[in-house]
Amino acid sequence: MLSDIFTRNRVWSEAMVADDPDYFRRLAAIQRPEFFWIGCSDSRVPANVVAGLQPGMVFVHRNVANVIHSSDMNLLSTLEFAVEELAVQHVIVCGHYGCGGVRAAVAERTQGLANHWIEPIRRLAQRHSAELDNIAEEQARLDRLSELNVVEGVARVAETPILRAAWARGADVAVHGLIYGLRDGRLRNLGCTVTRIRG
Ligand code: CO
Repeated sequence: MLSDIFTRNRVWSEAMVADDPDYFRRLAAIQRPEFFWIGCSDSRVPANVVAGLQPGMVFVHRNVANVIHSSDMNLLSTLEFAVEELAVQHVIVCGHYGCGGVRAAVAERTQGLANHWIEPIRRLAQRHSAELDNIAEEQARLDRLSELNVVEGVARVAETPILRAAWARGADVAVHGLIYGLRDGRLRNLGCTVTRIRG
């Protein structure tokens, strides 16, 4: 019920103040997160919770299957604010195993706008069909596609004018690719970090 949310909120805010009377006053004064998180909207992968970060520590953008569309104004404006105003040091593209959006991309039966949204994943699967077709087990194949989607996302973020401009002026910012396991609650580094792009 909606009223439960207000009850939970009151309990939480009172507990925070009981622990640290200045907590909200300090948090309200300034926002200086070190991380910008681009993740899936999946309710099981909340950035703050899975990364163990308190309010104020991570700036967040989430969409279905953490797809990076180069012309997504929502993502681009959030990314620009994170890099130029907040000066985050780490941009994290985080996918997850068991992603319903990734599954839908290759299922051929998704309708409507969601189908259009995940089109880049469908093309990605076609581009990597040689590798994916060699994975016999379906979930393992989808999980590999989730990883490829993250690696692709990192490359796309790194190619935006926002990151290129940041690196051109010598900003200390890196783009990382992570994947989260729903089954074990663990984050893994996919080892595709980009710290700058030449040329
Ligand atoms: Co997902």
